[in-house]
Amino acid sequence: MTDRKIVGFVVVLVCIALSLPLATAQAPAAGGQRGGGGDARGGGAGGQRAPAPPPTNLQVLPKDWTRQQVVQVMQQFTMGLGVMCNYCHAEMAGAQPGANGQIPIDAASDEKQTKKTARVMMKMVGDVNNTLRSQLGKPASDVVQVQCITCHRGAAIPKTQ
Ligand code: HEC
Ligand code: HEC
Repeated sequence: MTDRKIVGFVVVLVCIALSLPLATAQAPAAGGQRGGGGDARGGGAGGQRAPAPPPTNLQVLPKDWTRQQVVQVMQQFTMGLGVMCNYCHAEMAGAQPGANGQIPIDAASDEKQTKKTARVMMKMVGDVNNTLRSQLGKPASDVVQVQCITCHRGAAIPKTQ
């Protein structure tokens, strides 16, 4: 990806992040992973849990993003596609379900095709938004941003018929 495209994608993500407080309040799937949305709490009260480690396998998102920043985008994905984290992420081998009844994910693993497909989608969305911002003849800030939910509308495969 060129620098420009990365900048474009980050702009989209910032827009997404800004709309999050509303979005997560409505999303039952968003809390689907222990340590998910609440990583900041990881090292908190009592220190019973170590802070979540930083991401190690970012190929589309900026590599220096914290886990918390990444997970905010992830919650947008679960909302947009109507899925849980494990739709794209492999589960930890041999792990027991956590308090929420779900098996913890191995977030860095690229085992699932859906995760690889999601990367293709992320780049596509960045390309689309760059095209719209540069060619619609109005200020970039006035252009409606395409997001996952624009097509998916809560379905993993956005078939129209
Ligand atoms: C639609 C597919 C999809 C869903 C659903 C999804 N993720 Fe992800 N996740 C990805 C992709 C793709 C990446 C890699 C992004 C990149 O390469 O920049 C990723 C990366 C991550 C990472 C960084 C891992 C690392 O070490 O590099 C974490 C943490 C993560 N996801 C957590 C979650 C959590 C928690 C949920 C549920 C709230 C979730 N994901 C739901 C697709 C998904
Ligand atoms: C322009 C419309 C569009 C947008 C925007 C879009 N998608 Fe998709 N997505 C599709 C279509 C169409 C398919 C089905 C492709 C196929 O035939 O396999 C799909 C399939 C997927 C799949 C595979 C599902 C499966 O079970 O095989 C994942 C994962 C996915 N999209 C994630 C995302 C994420 C994450 C975003 C936002 C970053 C996103 N998509 C944005 C159109 C879109």
